Amino acid sequence: MNEQQRKEMSQIRQGTPADVKSDQDNLERIQQKSSEDFTKYFETTYQPPSLRKAQRRRKEDVKVHYDFTIPEELDNIGHGRKYMIRTYGCQMNEHDTEVMAGIFEEMGYESTSDTKEADIILLNTCAIRENAENKVFGEIGHLKPLKLENPNLIIGVCGCMSQEESVVNRILQKHPFIDLIFGTHNIHRLPQLVKEAMFGKEMVIDVWSKEGDIIENLPRSRKGKIKAWVNIMYGCDKFCTYCIVPYTRGKERSRLPEDIIQEVRHLAAQGYKEITLLGQNVNAYGKDLDINYGLGDLMDELTGIDIPRIRFTTSHPRDFDDRLIEVLAKGGNMLDHIHLPVQSGNSDVLKIMGRKYSREEYLELVRKIRTAMPNATLTTDIIVGFPNETEEQFQDTMSLMEEVGFEAAYTFIYSAREGTPAARMTDNVSMEEKKDRLQRLNKLVNDQSAEAMKKYEGEVVEVLVEGESKKNSEVLAGYTKRNKMVNFTGPRSSIGTIVKVKINKAKTWSLDGVMVEETIEVK
Ligand code: 5AD
Ligand code: SF4
Repeated sequence: MNEQQRKEMSQIRQGTPADVKSDQDNLERIQQKSSEDFTKYFETTYQPPSLRKAQRRRKEDVKVHYDFTIPEELDNIGHGRKYMIRTYGCQMNEHDTEVMAGIFEEMGYESTSDTKEADIILLNTCAIRENAENKVFGEIGHLKPLKLENPNLIIGVCGCMSQEESVVNRILQKHPFIDLIFGTHNIHRLPQLVKEAMFGKEMVIDVWSKEGDIIENLPRSRKGKIKAWVNIMYGCDKFCTYCIVPYTRGKERSRLPEDIIQEVRHLAAQGYKEITLLGQNVNAYGKDLDINYGLGDLMDELTGIDIPRIRFTTSHPRDFDDRLIEVLAKGGNMLDHIHLPVQSGNSDVLKIMGRKYSREEYLELVRKIRTAMPNATLTTDIIVGFPNETEEQFQDTMSLMEEVGFEAAYTFIYSAREGTPAARMTDNVSMEEKKDRLQRLNKLVNDQSAEAMKKYEGEVVEVLVEGESKKNSEVLAGYTKRNKMVNFTGPRSSIGTIVKVKINKAKTWSLDGVMVEETIEVK
């Protein structure tokens, strides 16, 4: 660790979220702002969502509710009207969009993908990196003329960006034509918020700095009929020093095992073929429930359900335990693919990132996984150009990439997020250098992916057929159990089934082939 990094480390220690005492003021609701008397409102009444408040964690019970209903006076409010939701970011957001779509449809709205047809447009936003936020602000700018043409159009901003004080303030000041802002903890209030936005003259703002309870029976309008997402937990308590998620998504809250199992059973009965269990840090599943039950136990129970494929995302190496490895090693309907974000290959950088494992500990975990699951594909997330990262430290990331033999990686240049400890660090690495590191890393990632793909030439693989390929409607596309994308020729009747495909060509990120056998009976 160099001198600068040692200094940053001691600063982080002084201000870790765990040190912050609990806060009695649990729910903070803010509402209503008039564009005319904005200044007065802003100075007197308005309370923005607070990242500081979101940081305070208390181990009070999270209540589970099964009584979500749409008030009678609102359940037909969307009749003859259309909604559109534009989604940015991760699978968690994609799934939240399915919930909001479900609520809209129960209110009588129909979906549209045409902004001109829409009566309400929601931007479900992502705050993970600055460029994600820039895209949303760009889109807000594009929507302005629509609002001028049709003053009855409602435009709303929700998702992670709404949980940020600076974003809400910027919208209030620069984009007062936005009608509605609500946060990630307020999705269940959508019917009431839509009504307020429709009938009030003011901008409706409903953002809780702290998470609420778990609401079980929200409707969902799922995007497909083959793959489905199932939340197993919400929030994240890891507080990696660069990451905004623990602030925007709140503390870790696990759903009860019986509620998850019932949802998966229901999806199996509806004919879904693949389930992805979702959470920001799924390996912490169950820790807050105090019932000595973890992700391994949950996965073990899910193996008994008649559904061909089950996977989970995203894992944190720190909480990846032996019980889970033991269950995954049984195979069955669990996929041979583990996404295990490492972020950096250097122990000092990992320490300042607050990842709570070293390079050696990560490699030991990989060794255990490989012993138990010799066929598993490993993929990862990597950040380059973390403040003060040296060339030598970056080289450790490169060598780890090779040593583990990752077959794919999502790679990112570090982006400072306001309110996180890393954003307060000085940084001596130029953007030019960061871009250069990213380029060198991406070259290695591509080479390793291509090499892994090459091994499949001439092999027969099992593919869950998802539909037409994006580039060519004559070609079908799907994924193997090891998460390799396969484009192949075969009958459209195979969509939604698992078929055998002979691979005749490997590309960098996908495989080309021909179907050799009809549906495989699974289980
Ligand atoms: N800058 C760059 N990348 C980030 N990630 C999370 N926060 C940041 C940030 N501030 C990356 C991590 C994480 C993935 C979802 O996004 O690699 O695993
Ligand atoms: Fe962010 Fe993931 Fe770290 Fe949680 S575990 S703080 S979501 S990078």
